Amino acid sequence: MSEILRVNNISKHFGGLMAVSDVSLSINQGETVGLMGPNGAGKTTLVNMITGKYAVDSGDVQFMGHDITKMPTYQRCHLGITRTYQIPRPFPELTAIGSVAVSALQGKKRSNQSFEDALTDATHYLEFCGLFSKRNVLGKDLTLYELRSLELARALATTPKLMLVDEVMAGLNPHEAVKAVRLIERAKEEFGVTILWIEHVMAVLMKAAQRVVVLHYGKKIAEGLPQDIANDPFVIECYLGSCHA
Ligand SMILES: Nc1ncnc2c1ncn2[C@@H]1O[C@H](COP(=O)(O)OP(=O)(O)OP(=O)(O)O)[C@@H](O)[C@H]1O
Ligand SMILES: [Mg+2]
Repeated sequence: MSEILRVNNISKHFGGLMAVSDVSLSINQGETVGLMGPNGAGKTTLVNMITGKYAVDSGDVQFMGHDITKMPTYQRCHLGITRTYQIPRPFPELTAIGSVAVSALQGKKRSNQSFEDALTDATHYLEFCGLFSKRNVLGKDLTLYELRSLELARALATTPKLMLVDEVMAGLNPHEAVKAVRLIERAKEEFGVTILWIEHVMAVLMKAAQRVVVLHYGKKIAEGLPQDIANDPFVIECYLGSCHA
């Protein structure tokens, strides 16, 4: 299996707080890797450094043979990196189809793609995510579940190779949470996308992930098979709040 992403010893601090500290990880093409860790562990910050939203303090990020450490976010997107947001970030005054069309244009699936082409692609991704009937609804008027689905439609519309999924289940009711997880699994089946999946619910990662990485206080404290991570006493202790990295 070939490596698609490699993160070497990256760190990020905010003032005196080390949000991510000397973390390395690699993801192979076609893999789903779970990323866990208690609240504030540095998971979203790690994703933000992979996408280029935050510059790294130190370390480097390699994607499909390119050193992307200093590359702007839009170029990383063109190379095939996309993400969903833990707290959805819709364009409040754009319709669902308009939002997804913007992503389709950004991802440049087709050369010289027209807005018409982008709307056609957007329709396809909205249908896939169960949002076709909401295509003309403004971002500000969508429910949380619909916004999560829209996040996924927008991410897929960039035609990614690697998708960074940040807590799709948070805030959803159990029925919606199951649907959201299924949507990510279907996206993998349909589009063959490699996934780094931030999730607290171990049962979801046990089923979906081949490997799980655990962060705590910004440090990588464990990595391994989902069943081994689920039974790791140190990981369990960290989630219960009694360990200190
Ligand atoms: N832009 C920022 N400015 C200052 N501090 C930040 C910023 N982003 C994150 N942090 C801090 O960095 C630490 C790691 O945050 P991060 O959001 O990466 O954690 P997380 O693992 O995603 O947590 P959660 O499970 O709650 O989403 C936290 O202490 C957080 O308050
Ligand atoms: Mg987070």
